Amino acid sequence: MSNYHIKHLEEYYQVYRKSIREPESFWEEIAEEHFLWRKKWDSVLDWDFSTPEISWFKGAKLNITENCIDRHLTTRGDKTAILFEPNNPDEGSQHISYNELHIRVNKFANVLKEQGIKKGDRVCIYLPMIPELAISVLACARIGAIHSVVFAGFSSTALATRINDSDCKMVITSDGSYRGAKTIDLKGIVDEALESCSCVETVLVAKRIQTDIHMNMGRDKWLAPLLEKASDDCAPEIMDAEDPLFILYTSGSTGMPKGMVHTTAGYMVYTAYTFKNAFQYTENDVYWCTADIGWITGHSYIVYGPLANGATTVMFEGVPSYPDYGRFWDIVQKHKVSQFYTAPTAIRALAKQGTDFIENYDLSSLKVLGSVGEPINEEAWHWYNENIGKRKSPIIDSWWQTETGGIMISPIPYVTPTKPTYATLPFIGVQPAIMDENGNELKGNQVEGRLCIKFPWPSIARTIWGNHQRYKETYFSAFDNKYFTGDGALRDEVGYYRITGRVDDVIIVSGHNLGTAPIEDAINEHPAVAESAIVGFPHDIKGSALYGYITLKDTGESRNHNNLRTEINQLITDRIGPIAKLDKIQFTNGLPKTRSGKIMRRILRKIACNESDSLGDTSTLLNQEVVQEIIDNVL
Ligand code: PRX
Repeated sequence: MSNYHIKHLEEYYQVYRKSIREPESFWEEIAEEHFLWRKKWDSVLDWDFSTPEISWFKGAKLNITENCIDRHLTTRGDKTAILFEPNNPDEGSQHISYNELHIRVNKFANVLKEQGIKKGDRVCIYLPMIPELAISVLACARIGAIHSVVFAGFSSTALATRINDSDCKMVITSDGSYRGAKTIDLKGIVDEALESCSCVETVLVAKRIQTDIHMNMGRDKWLAPLLEKASDDCAPEIMDAEDPLFILYTSGSTGMPKGMVHTTAGYMVYTAYTFKNAFQYTENDVYWCTADIGWITGHSYIVYGPLANGATTVMFEGVPSYPDYGRFWDIVQKHKVSQFYTAPTAIRALAKQGTDFIENYDLSSLKVLGSVGEPINEEAWHWYNENIGKRKSPIIDSWWQTETGGIMISPIPYVTPTKPTYATLPFIGVQPAIMDENGNELKGNQVEGRLCIKFPWPSIARTIWGNHQRYKETYFSAFDNKYFTGDGALRDEVGYYRITGRVDDVIIVSGHNLGTAPIEDAINEHPAVAESAIVGFPHDIKGSALYGYITLKDTGESRNHNNLRTEINQLITDRIGPIAKLDKIQFTNGLPKTRSGKIMRRILRKIACNESDSLGDTSTLLNQEVVQEIIDNVL
């Protein structure tokens, strides 16, 4: 038998060593024994990080939905696959069994086909966390269409950019969405976006909030009547191992968001394998990841990883504060959740509410707690451990990225001893390297530098949609023959990794990656703005928040700064979404620049973080005088 389920530390080391020494035979064995293939591969791994070209299981044929649904039907047909918990608890939860999921995915897949969607077509999904979201993702995969899920908190402009970049033929959305006590007009956002998207032929609309909305004749179609008529029999499209499964956009430090392309077989094998081990999942567990399917965490660890293991996966539509801050714990108690996976920002927001909201609930079903998306600070780690885990559920601080597809560095619960703020050890098959700025690998322990991965793992993104050159430049050019993560990390005296944060111009706010360039572009659209620079600064709940330094055009007229602040944040909301709003806006007479005209963000970052006494040498600046003015007026 292969090493599919790791149960002891010695076993971890043994399996890890094997996965590094003989990666091909290691992954081949896992793939062979635990998945359903229509045809086996011709080669396990072909790779070249210089081009870069990576393929896993080349020549194999499969459909991921057969692995996530069909193959469970004989043994787990009546088991709950998706446990839907609505925004309003009074509405009641829904248990969607594997049998029912099979029917609903097939019907949806047939609707897609009837609407002209074929293998390889791109379908944009802009939905709230309702069952139709998971089902439409799987329906695309069933027929070989490439899904591009856009988080339903993005603005119409951000949505349009993503639809056009991958030339989507269809958008799947809903009449609206619930978010706590609010409703959001999703269809209105889609309508606005589509004014600038000529590629979209059809919009399928799910009913969620039952309001009257405008339907564009010929283009927009209600989903329910189409589903009702559709056959529940849809043969899975047989895909090549390396056929794209989905595109998911992530912010870059410059320019357009990057459409990361994940392919079929390697992604399936790695997400399934990591799910099983990182959560120590066993058959009767109820697993809950609080992320949105609009992010990679939801793709890999709400949909594909859990379903490939025949698990019960909870999908929660709402927010942690509605109807009150006890909602998460109410759900844990109600569904006897065994594994709970969330983000540090949620933990900090809940910790701020004290423990009153926890005390009324029975959390004894919990066995594993997870954290993902940003570094977890020591205080939040201990709060989570004491109050939610009651010091008996290990916390897995899992480090990974949209680009990596699956968990890369993480403790394995009950196997790896945890250490607060440390992601601990590389996952099976993952070969991290810490590099210095001159491109040398820092070997041994107690080193700190930039985090790279030096060997391919099965779920690495294969390209950026439509821009392979950018893929090469972003990830494979900083360090020779290595994938560069954009993160800093240290390795301690026992070989544990701690992620120290981004080393580029990406700022993680409440677990969302935000590139500074698109935000600055939005600000610079304001007619009064001459120039702007965004940096991150520490925030109690969000982890990091955004600080904007803005210089205004010299028009001679005086402007009300508070009105300007509101207008600028409105522009950001329109262009990107409310998640990118600035917490602080300081108007300045200039921005510190190098002699070549580059803004010195390092200095601005230090000032925003209240570290202006350690600015270092500023004598090479073109306009040294602005620094003191900025320090004097810091917010
Ligand atoms: O900086 C790291 C941070 O989140 C980045 C990836 O963001 P995204 O592609 O949105 O994927 C998030 C969910 C997988 C990383 O480059 N990050 C993610 N997890 C951790 C983390 N930083 C520290 N500790 C983590 N556990």
